[in-house]
Amino acid sequence: MAANPAEKKETVFYYPPVDFVKNAAIPGMDAYRALCRAAEENYEGFWEELARENVLWHKPFTKVLNDTNPPFYKWFEDGELNVSWNCLDKHLANGNAEKDAIIFEADDGTVTKVTYRQLHERVCRLANGLKSLGVGKGDRVVIYMAMSIEAVVAMQACARIGAIHSVVFGGFSAPSLGERIVNAGAVAVITADMQIRGGRRLPLKAIVDEALALNDNHTVKNIVVYRRTGDGIPFTEGRDCWMDELMARQSAECEPEWVDAEHPLFILYTSGSTGNPKGAQHASGGFLLWAIMTMRWTFDIKPSDVFWCTADIGWITGHTYNAYGPLATGATILLFEGVPTYPHAGRFWEMIDKHKVSIFYTAPTAIRSLIKASSEDNRVAPEHYDLSSLRLLGSVGEPINPEAWLWFYRHIGKERCPIVDTFWQTETGGHVIAPMPGATPLVPGSCTLPLPGLSVSVVDETGQELPWGQGGILVINRPWPSMIRTVWGNDERYKTHYWPEELGGRLYQAGDGAIRDPQTGYFTITGRIDDVLNVSGHALGTMEVESVLSAHPMVAEAAVVGKPDDLTGESICAFVILKNELPKGEAAKHIASDLRKWVSREISPIARPKEIRFGENLPKTRSGKIMRRLLRVIARGEEITQDISTLENPAILEQLRQSL
Ligand code: WTA
Repeated sequence: MAANPAEKKETVFYYPPVDFVKNAAIPGMDAYRALCRAAEENYEGFWEELARENVLWHKPFTKVLNDTNPPFYKWFEDGELNVSWNCLDKHLANGNAEKDAIIFEADDGTVTKVTYRQLHERVCRLANGLKSLGVGKGDRVVIYMAMSIEAVVAMQACARIGAIHSVVFGGFSAPSLGERIVNAGAVAVITADMQIRGGRRLPLKAIVDEALALNDNHTVKNIVVYRRTGDGIPFTEGRDCWMDELMARQSAECEPEWVDAEHPLFILYTSGSTGNPKGAQHASGGFLLWAIMTMRWTFDIKPSDVFWCTADIGWITGHTYNAYGPLATGATILLFEGVPTYPHAGRFWEMIDKHKVSIFYTAPTAIRSLIKASSEDNRVAPEHYDLSSLRLLGSVGEPINPEAWLWFYRHIGKERCPIVDTFWQTETGGHVIAPMPGATPLVPGSCTLPLPGLSVSVVDETGQELPWGQGGILVINRPWPSMIRTVWGNDERYKTHYWPEELGGRLYQAGDGAIRDPQTGYFTITGRIDDVLNVSGHALGTMEVESVLSAHPMVAEAAVVGKPDDLTGESICAFVILKNELPKGEAAKHIASDLRKWVSREISPIARPKEIRFGENLPKTRSGKIMRRLLRVIARGEEITQDISTLENPAILEQLRQSL
């Protein structure tokens, strides 16, 4: 939609504080522009220099970018390295062995710390343990754990031996976990006996057992179990072992497996608009480089920082900005097992105060829920805590609305901390568009400008760049080091999904819409352009939820759409047609509650529809296609102004509208 410049309100900028600029990695817009110019003038040379200076290579690369077979790009392909070596051994050699690497706070408030030396030892022991089970280079290992030091150890141990990890978020159900284990062809699973969140226990190991029992075609030979609670759990002789017992038998030194830069570091499943989740495959060298550069540029990381990224390791944010980036840059990170509202909604502020956190990176949905909580109960308001250690704030996962941005800026950052609103995706490996905190004047609600080196545009359906002020499709114009390499086991899907023919096949399509400010060129993300929903910052395919609903014995057909939600950004509204007659009153409530439980169990509680509406049919075109755009209008409670002439059964709209 074209914005009318005449109606445009005066833009208010929030400038970086002078003290921040003085010591910043990118001190001011001139420094930012100089980096962008360097990349424009010599694209490969720009990346080459960064990769030589910031990554430790076992064997230096001689080639930078191989673009002979687009869109299957390769970076630094003849270089050899080990990511775990870059995250751990490097610091032992440079005098940081006794520095805290991880401060872990458990759900109940217990604090455990590990230094870089201790972390190195644990990673080596588990790496040796995995090798003793026969796990080796290129093997896939599924990690199904909650936030813990051991989860980071597990990821790093895989990297150390060249095994490819695939972390599955601990909130996913047995069927979702099983599907990923099978797709990845995992030979081992690393899990925990229990997960504890908000005072509640969830039996992770039992869910792994169930996931394997559901799939007799799985290839798992071993399950390694971290003893979180020591609760008695069933063990399968010969297949299952305790992580501590396995590690105790091993040497504390493990020579890393040197791998090619393109060797896959991990697979992370992400929801697509159609079909099953896609395994985004990332490469060792390029991913590591961008994790390091964005720690330096976006987070301005310094040796004295305590860095807290609240994202779970089950998501990409927890990969890049918990398990890898901060360790590769020698930071101290805080890891949190629990939830922001337990035992009270002041927990985040209390933890920032207690651990003297200096960089705090979280999601808009968490901010919004804490704003609400503190307005309802002043005892959990941030004003009761000392937040003076903070110097930088960050936001990720979904657009941050200006009201939430301003609250975060005033009440948490006390108007002294820049906020970096970071736009990126599982597939991009690291930040794509984000302010540079010592340079970029901030505008609430805008992720501002691309990172140096990233060429980003807004284009129309044919791939033509649009003028500023006109909304369109967000694309990345050139390959970049931390980009997704392929969809695990499905090159074709990678190619058609991310490099669509309609756009000429040479532009990476992010799947989001965007608009640039007519004056500043700043980007604002306008939301997904496909059928991917964003609930509390978690991507969910509408198809995924629909197929689970349709698989319920009572359901004939279901369609799912997103609806704006004050707290979660977007919420799920499901339209359901039952095999039997249309349910009314209490019966409808019962069935709706059953369906919600069903979706939780089959996918995850995140996918549970907030609203379920029953009807006798769905609005369909004459060719039988469900008209989701009409369902979206109904879900929002808006008037239907669209053309409905292609609709087979217009009367159904009224029935669905009244179905709430
Ligand atoms: C959305 C999370 C607006 C976007 C890192 C993207 C955002 C999807 C932002 C990727 C942001 C992420 N502003 N939208 N700052 N950050 N998104 O793969 O729709 O879990 O495509 O990666 O989240 O979600 P994913």
